[in-house]
This record gives sequence, C-alpha cells and structure tokens, in this order.
Amino acid sequence: MGKKITLNTIRESKGNTPLCVITAYDALFARLFADSADIILVGDSLNMSFAGKDDTLSTTLDQMIYHAQAVNQGAPDTFTICDMPFGTYSDTKSAIKNSIRVYQETSCDAIKIEGGVEKAKIVQALTDEGIAVCGHIGLLPQSVRGDGGYRVRGKSEADVMKLVDDIGAIEEAGAFCAVIEGVKSEATVIVGESTKLPLIGIGAGNSVDAQVLVFSDLLGLYEPFVPKFVKKYADGASITKDALKRFRKEVQNRSFPSKEQCY
Ligand code: KIV
Repeated sequence: MGKKITLNTIRESKGNTPLCVITAYDALFARLFADSADIILVGDSLNMSFAGKDDTLSTTLDQMIYHAQAVNQGAPDTFTICDMPFGTYSDTKSAIKNSIRVYQETSCDAIKIEGGVEKAKIVQALTDEGIAVCGHIGLLPQSVRGDGGYRVRGKSEADVMKLVDDIGAIEEAGAFCAVIEGVKSEATVIVGESTKLPLIGIGAGNSVDAQVLVFSDLLGLYEPFVPKFVKKYADGASITKDALKRFRKEVQNRSFPSKEQCY
C-alpha cells in the first residue's frame, strides 16, 4: 500500500471514503494484507479463531504483545492497533503501565480498549500519557459473560442515547477513533452524526468511516460460528481442506515428491 497512514489521515476519514481494516495475528497474514489494508487490528479475537477458546476473556497481555510483534514484522508499513486484553485496563495505573508495555515492546501505533462512559477516565489518562487510543462501543466482547451473551445494541431509544453518551465521553477524553460493534444500522447513523470521531464498524451498517472484519471470517476459515454481519470473501476452509486431502493422497500414492521436488 506504500506509506503508513497517520492518525490525522484516520481523523480526516470522517465522512470520506471508508477505510479498510482487517485483523491479523501473525506475520504471514499481515504481509498478505498489507497491500490492501489501511489499518491492521491485532484483535483479542485471536483467542477464539487462533487459540480456539469460546470468548476473548482469557487473552493475556504477553500473548497480545507476541502476536503484535509478529504482525509488525509482516506489515511494518501498515498502521496497527493492538487490543488491550480483558483486565489489563481496569484502573488508570494498570492501564498506563500495560499500554506502555505495548508501545515499548511492539511498534503498534495505537491501542484499543472497550467501553464508553465508564472507561472515559482511563482513555483520558492514556491520552495524557501520549498513547493513541481507539475506543470500542456497542457490543463489547470482553463484557459478554457479564452481559449474559452477545446482544445487538441500539434497538431502543434509551440504548441509542447510551451509545451517544459513550461516544461523546471517549471523544471528550481524547480517543482518535472508535470501533462500533453489533449496532442497528439506524442507531449507528445517529451515533456517527453525534461525534467528530471516525467510526470503525463491525456489524453496524454502512454509514461508518471504516469497516473491520476478523480475517478468518472474511476468508471463510472460521467454521464454528458465522455471524450475520460477516461476508465470506473466500471459502478458505474448503480450499485448505481440499489442499490437505490432495497432499495426503499424493503422499499415500508416492506421487509427492515428484522428480521436481527431489534433490
Ligand atoms: O478483537 C477483535 O478482533 C475486535 C474486532 C471484532 C473489532 O475487537
């Protein structure tokens, strides 16, 4: 893609051509995505698609740092955001300490934390420290056990008002953009109009300033569950399984390796 985009490019994306955001967890895929992605998110969704867990809650900071380093290695010229895992930003002191670790041990350009009004103080403390913060409002995967499951937001007037309050609070606290997840499209329009922050949508309609998908969903590699908002741009699971089947067959009938692959 060329030169890495800047915080200002992201801020200026508000109302313009939407940015393309994709998750990645390793150098292999990050390198492949670098040509087309404006931003790579090292999401804690890796706990599900990469580590096979049921939710994102058990991700550790050490794991995020390991994966972020790999992504930075594969896509050194792409703007990267690292998710702060559950429990690593419960108070300002730990949030600052843990975010500084991410900045010092990776080349990520920003960190992401989940929460609105209740996390505004933390966003403020981090931005005061010189850390670029991407917020995350709407459906919060790290709160899924506390919320009793995944629930689409913005269905009632009170819910929409809560989202407007959330985005307002993190904007005021200094965030430079925010993910908005699992929100009714009409509610996203209202939230978007209420803020100067660019919104990165996932399952939030198409009025947003950027769209993000989890890469294993986009490539059709993650089979256990496909949410309604996902569009599979490839049938990665079939391609992969088919390749392995063909490999197995050729191993068994000794047609692999052929002369071409032998020294
Ligand atoms: O962890 C993740 O991949 C995310 C996206 C779903 C936005 O936070």
